[in-house]
Amino acid sequence: MSNAPIYEIDVAEFRNDPYPTLQYMRSHTPIAYVPTLDAILITKRNDIFKLEKITNVFSSVQPDGLITKLMGQNMMRKDGHAHQIERKAIFSTVSPKTVRDIWEAKFKESTKQVLNNLAPSGCADITKDFAMPVCAEALKALTGLTNMSWQEMDRVSQGMIDGCANYTGDLQVEANCNDCTSSIDAHISERLSRAVDSNDNSLIAVQKRAGLSDAQLRVNVKLAISGGQNEPRDAIAGIIWAVLQNSNILRDLKAGNLIYLQVFEEFTRWISPIGMSPRRVAKRYVH
Ligand code: HEM
Repeated sequence: MSNAPIYEIDVAEFRNDPYPTLQYMRSHTPIAYVPTLDAILITKRNDIFKLEKITNVFSSVQPDGLITKLMGQNMMRKDGHAHQIERKAIFSTVSPKTVRDIWEAKFKESTKQVLNNLAPSGCADITKDFAMPVCAEALKALTGLTNMSWQEMDRVSQGMIDGCANYTGDLQVEANCNDCTSSIDAHISERLSRAVDSNDNSLIAVQKRAGLSDAQLRVNVKLAISGGQNEPRDAIAGIIWAVLQNSNILRDLKAGNLIYLQVFEEFTRWISPIGMSPRRVAKRYVH
């Protein structure tokens, strides 16, 4: 039983804007048990940085966690050797070299297409009309699920994220999440029913070539979809919004005094697309 101090959060308030609560917790109860979540929250960056590496205590293996229950045990929910095997298997899809040599040109092309589609209307919603299709088209190529529409990619990603954050147990959210994982499975089955090209660098192809099981292949594709749409979508839309709010940054970007990587890093520090990284406390830890 944890002896961490108890701190209750207001879920609605937290969902709307988590930063004031997190700021308060960092100053008053940096490590606290939160009854509504039935979890201990560690809110200081340096504590997280240190503790997340002690995986025999703060384990990624969470059989009772929502991600494992709803999507299956993906690589992110494994530690040590089991994690390394799958990480190595997907490396040739996500390595910086593959991104530079294979994906960059494809992503630029599909982004150009999205912009061309938007041009006639003269105005656009940055999130729905731009960031969503840009990320979903990239994810279709990267996963190998080119048989899915970008709208379906966004729907299934959001549905899984909602399901995995459904700490209050809303049955409708859970049912929708199950519908989304079924849709992904159907698309993967259809994709696997056709031959996989030996030059194919998609997640489906590289995992199949590496000899991962059907279950491992499917669950890691679901992981990539849940993480590969929401986070870049929110980061891209948020960065555009932030840059347009701040003429100095826009000017520095245009003048080449700032590069987009710096803007990306500062934005994701400031408004992180991922607010929490769960671990299971596997054994007693004394600080
Ligand atoms: C702004 C964009 C992104 C952010 C901020 C982000 C953030 C993160 C974070 C914080 C983790 C670790 C979570 C944990 O250990 O609990 C993670 C893991 C992961 N992400 Fe992302 N991510 C982004 C984009 C993507 C994309 C585009 C993909 C793939 C298409 C992706 C696939 C993965 C995978 C497969 C893992 C698990 C890695 C492992 O277990 O070794 N992510 N991401």
